[in-house]
Amino acid sequence: MIFETHAHYDDEAFDEDRYDLLDSMAENGIGTIVNATASKRTVEKSLELAHKYPFVYTTIGVHPSDCAEMDEAELKWLEEMCADEKAVAVGEIGLDYHYDEPSPEIQKKWFEAQIELARRAKLPLIIHSRDAAKDTLDIMKALHTEEIGGDIHCFSYPVEIAKEYLNMGFYIGVGGVITFKNGRKLREVVEYAPIEQIVIETDSPYLSPEPFRGKRNSSLNLPYVVEKIAEIKGLTAEKVIEITEANARKLYRL
Ligand code: NI
Repeated sequence: MIFETHAHYDDEAFDEDRYDLLDSMAENGIGTIVNATASKRTVEKSLELAHKYPFVYTTIGVHPSDCAEMDEAELKWLEEMCADEKAVAVGEIGLDYHYDEPSPEIQKKWFEAQIELARRAKLPLIIHSRDAAKDTLDIMKALHTEEIGGDIHCFSYPVEIAKEYLNMGFYIGVGGVITFKNGRKLREVVEYAPIEQIVIETDSPYLSPEPFRGKRNSSLNLPYVVEKIAEIKGLTAEKVIEITEANARKLYRL
């Protein structure tokens, strides 16, 4: 069954039908979901979902855009949450220079601190990196994250950068962008990357694939992503689902 490696079902976009939607996943071929977190508040909500649904797991972490107010006490709290039996990764953490705030210095500080948290907790990393290719890679190399492993979620960089992460043993997270008219860069990465290092994700409620671009996304749209990967790799959809599920289980150690 399809393994959704990154969604945000704690988001208010799902307030009206969250439980009905999650109840409908199995009958639609979605077998496992990892709900990704971005702040203390979302970690709390995500743990709640993971405890309610056997097939839902959660990451634990603070997103670079949400780290302005972070402090040592919060880091310590995150570490405690990592011990939860449904916690499968530290993320999404990283760098996002798309907006000016928080400053790169603050983002780097908490990115590094959360990488070390993952190392202590023995959990893989879920990396968010936007408009910050060089700084992200520099930090990940300096801190020897190849010893920790993980996934570069919603991969948005060219093949040369993908090559670096693939060599470090990381997985590449591929979602709806692969179906976009302007998604050529990601299609090139998928063409280049071994299928054994690709995992699929939606980033729901964001980034709906064509033909639903701009609408609320959910894991039910993952077949469109599978279809596109199958086309690029010359595989059947069934094979892509089977291999990416095995990859995701390795990634999250499930
Ligand atoms: Ni996300």
